[in-house]
Amino acid sequence: MTQPKQMHFCGFLVAGPVVHSHAIWRNPAHETPFLSLAHYAGIARTLERGVFDFVFFADRLAIADRYGDSHEMGLRLGDQDATRMDPLPILGAMAAVTSRLGLGATRSTTYDAPFNVAREFATLDHISGGRAAWNVVTSMNDGEALNFGDVPHLSHDERYDRADEFMEVAFKLWDSWDDDALVLDRAAGVYADPSKVHYVNHRGKWFQSRGPLNIPHSPQGRPVVIQAGSSGRGKAFAARWTEVIFALQPNMTRMAAFTKDVRAALEAAGRAPDAAKVMMAVMPFVGATRAEAEAKRDLHDSLIDPRVGLSTLAAHANADFGALPLDAAVNEIADTGSQGNLAALRSIAGDGSMTIAEAGRIYGRGVMCPRLVGTAEDIADELIAIVDSGAADGFVVSPAFLPDTFDDFVDKVVPLLQARGRAAAAYGEGTLRDRLGLAGGRE
Ligand SMILES: Cc1cc2nc3c(=O)[nH]c(=O)nc-3n(C[C@H](O)[C@H](O)[C@H](O)COP(=O)(O)O)c2cc1C
Repeated sequence: MTQPKQMHFCGFLVAGPVVHSHAIWRNPAHETPFLSLAHYAGIARTLERGVFDFVFFADRLAIADRYGDSHEMGLRLGDQDATRMDPLPILGAMAAVTSRLGLGATRSTTYDAPFNVAREFATLDHISGGRAAWNVVTSMNDGEALNFGDVPHLSHDERYDRADEFMEVAFKLWDSWDDDALVLDRAAGVYADPSKVHYVNHRGKWFQSRGPLNIPHSPQGRPVVIQAGSSGRGKAFAARWTEVIFALQPNMTRMAAFTKDVRAALEAAGRAPDAAKVMMAVMPFVGATRAEAEAKRDLHDSLIDPRVGLSTLAAHANADFGALPLDAAVNEIADTGSQGNLAALRSIAGDGSMTIAEAGRIYGRGVMCPRLVGTAEDIADELIAIVDSGAADGFVVSPAFLPDTFDDFVDKVVPLLQARGRAAAAYGEGTLRDRLGLAGGRE
């Protein structure tokens, strides 16, 4: 008999007041100390208790000021970009309070240098014993461009072209130390074998880097590579480089279609169709009864001002539709930024009669993240149904409140999945890549 498929889990975070849900910092039950180390350390411990594969920080590099051409709304109401601390130092601290949990962070290929990124993740991989993961983003809006002096922002496809070369350079740097280059022969006084450390001498269209990296080969060799672009070009990039693909699709139909496309793109790129794990974002509301879960969701939603969602949506779409009335149709929004997100929003809008205010509410509630509302049994059943339909290998759990959502999920949903053999009951041996069952992991 074939074993039922176990699902993978990632805890989704932003190092700031909100995640997909813009209500997080307004939790009426308690404060959310999102600027404190204790907050992140506690979440890391909870996720490790729930045998999550990894924690992950989304990141962007500018406050949002596209909506109404001003930062007024985003800062006043606390949108997704109102505060984002740098996730890498926080992951270093999380590494110290956990021993198995994977540690993922976002770095941009448009506004960083391959040498810096290669170095940061090699460091994290060493100090965590092989738990590092990198979410590769190309960055999406002019605000980010302005912080780095590059205006206008590169076009959508150019950003991915640059990202391809960025990956080539980063991979060369991670490979610049052979596995056995570090000798550490204390008696003979030999630190490393210089013949096993290689200059990379990369000269390309976007980057020059001589190398080698100044850090020995790390336990995983390179971080697990994550990506979340959902446009055609984004998926082609993912098919070439990525080991974990994040997706945010509002319903089962779109999840299934997305994953089918990804599998085809992987094959077209010469990889096995299941060479990358597809992880779908979900936002669970767990209650002792369905009514209790619905009450939690309704309380959460009551904290959303549609304009906070519009501020984030304007940043994602890289479009200022502040002049459009709130009752205008959502299809009037033009996009130049995140094509995938806009396409998903239009698909929810269906006939186009959704208003901009409603889009703002949906965005503020969770950036279109599908919500699973019910008892722990209901939610476990839904997750199993998604995995069994082939629409996902696992889930990016996006919190509605912190740490409440992770506490509920880990204490109530995970044990049910473990009892049914659908979630790992304990961490396996090896690195994060090994535990995710990715090719390139150790046998
Ligand atoms: C679950 C998820 C997480 C994401 N995290 C980030 C992020 O941290 N930073 C960022 O700039 N973009 C993030 N994105 C956006 C994508 O990386 C991508 O840049 C965006 O979808 C635009 O690419 P596309 O046009 O190929 O869809 C995320 C998308 C998804 C679905």
